[in-house]
Amino acid sequence: MGGTRLSYDIESWKVDRVWDKGDLYRKKEYERETLVRTEHILVEFGGIRAVDDVSIKVDRGEILGIIGPNGAGKTSLLNVISGFYKPKHGKVYYKGVDITRLPPHLRVKLGISRTFQHSELFMGMNVIENIMTGLHPWRKGNTLSYALWTPGVMKWEEWAREKAEHVIDLLDLHEYRYHIVGSLPPGVQKRVDLARALAQDPEVVFMDEPMAGLTREEKEDLVRAIIEVYETRGITFVLVEHDLEVVTDICDRIIVMDFGKVIAEGRPDEVVNHPLVVKAYLGG
Ligand SMILES: Nc1ncnc2c1ncn2[C@@H]1O[C@H](COP(=O)(O)OP(=O)(O)OP(=O)(O)O)[C@@H](O)[C@H]1O
Ligand SMILES: [Mg+2]
Repeated sequence: MGGTRLSYDIESWKVDRVWDKGDLYRKKEYERETLVRTEHILVEFGGIRAVDDVSIKVDRGEILGIIGPNGAGKTSLLNVISGFYKPKHGKVYYKGVDITRLPPHLRVKLGISRTFQHSELFMGMNVIENIMTGLHPWRKGNTLSYALWTPGVMKWEEWAREKAEHVIDLLDLHEYRYHIVGSLPPGVQKRVDLARALAQDPEVVFMDEPMAGLTREEKEDLVRAIIEVYETRGITFVLVEHDLEVVTDICDRIIVMDFGKVIAEGRPDEVVNHPLVVKAYLGG
């Protein structure tokens, strides 16, 4: 693992939690397995090392935070894990299987979903249509079958609509169902983005700066939604986030990046006081 290893101790963060998930959490501890693992990832842009030898892992049942100053390489790392960037060097594994060369839509089908730092929602479409776009990897057929509206296409449409309705329930988006996304407040748009990811039935969701641009109240709503989904659906979360209050409140473990490298890793209380982290954030 590139970077300083703190006194990170899996036993202690099991008990030292800010909120108690009770039996469900203990059950997950028992089933703990590594879902995603990266090995020595290198991403370069014109000589700049955006991601520099990063090896991390994400275990089932945790909420992992990834923090770091602007330009630290957090989004680039997520892009490698979700298949949008091909690393110059290094590997990505999902449940032990090498997926480095797998295209994004197949990673989605395996169980890796994500939300985006800069909205990738379709602003002119309504909420339900946006959620359904996340289900395109399951679409069969070609342009002609769509033009002719074949039974197969209709079947997908029906299935996708049902899935979308389900996550609309889950994230309390009923009242916005037919609203055009561009007309909705940022907090609701972030919930739609999460809904689109959850409709894919993921095992792990990577969220890139979900709290950015939200009011305190909107942040609280979104945190509540994430925790509820985490507890009821047992989905693993990775949050790339600048809001340290949110990250330290809800994450089990935090990875800190700076200049493309992992500079610290550990429990929230350990990480925020780590000298390298303080230096990276204060620029000292
Ligand atoms: N597509 C790209 N083309 C060229 N350079 C890029 C590209 N994507 C990222 N970079 C560069 O790579 C470095 C890491 O960027 P990245 O967006 O991964 O950082 P980040 O940690 O997500 O930052 P932020 O907190 O601002 O979102 C930066 O120097 C950035 O300018
Ligand atoms: Mg980013």
